[in-house]
Amino acid sequence: MFAANAIDTGNKPAFYKELATQLKALLEGEGDSIANAANTAALIYQMVPDLNWAGFYFLASEDELVLGPFQGKPACVRIAVGKGVCGKAIELDMSMLVKDVHEFPGHIACDSASRSELVVLLRDADGAFGVLDLDSPLPGRFDKEDQAGIEKLAAI
Ligand code: SME
Repeated sequence: MFAANAIDTGNKPAFYKELATQLKALLEGEGDSIANAANTAALIYQMVPDLNWAGFYFLASEDELVLGPFQGKPACVRIAVGKGVCGKAIELDMSMLVKDVHEFPGHIACDSASRSELVVLLRDADGAFGVLDLDSPLPGRFDKEDQAGIEKLAAI
């Protein structure tokens, strides 16, 4: 049985380094992408403080994302590329760090409690194939250190 170990969240780079080590251990030896995405969402939701949603959207075609494994409230299933924070991340081919979702034109509110959001790309050799999306009920919850840490987890 895998048991996540508590990590001191005071030092974000060290926190995400340790979380990456735990994620590698959790996924080791398993090749099923749905199972691995589900466990990744669960680990992030358990370990990263102050989240109300953590999960995946995958490109089902070149112009539409579809909901993947997640933790949190039920969410919108389909997001057009270019729409919302997730669709913008794909369109612009970059991570999106939104300090206040109320200030983001076109933000898609799946949970009205969400106030800030971090979306990072999932990439393979052919480019982005989806996103990892984190929501928080706290405004300004995410900073560049969170972005760098979550990008490392997405790469795993
Ligand atoms: N807020 C996202 C939609 C997905 S939910 O947050 C789970 C967006 O604007 O793309």
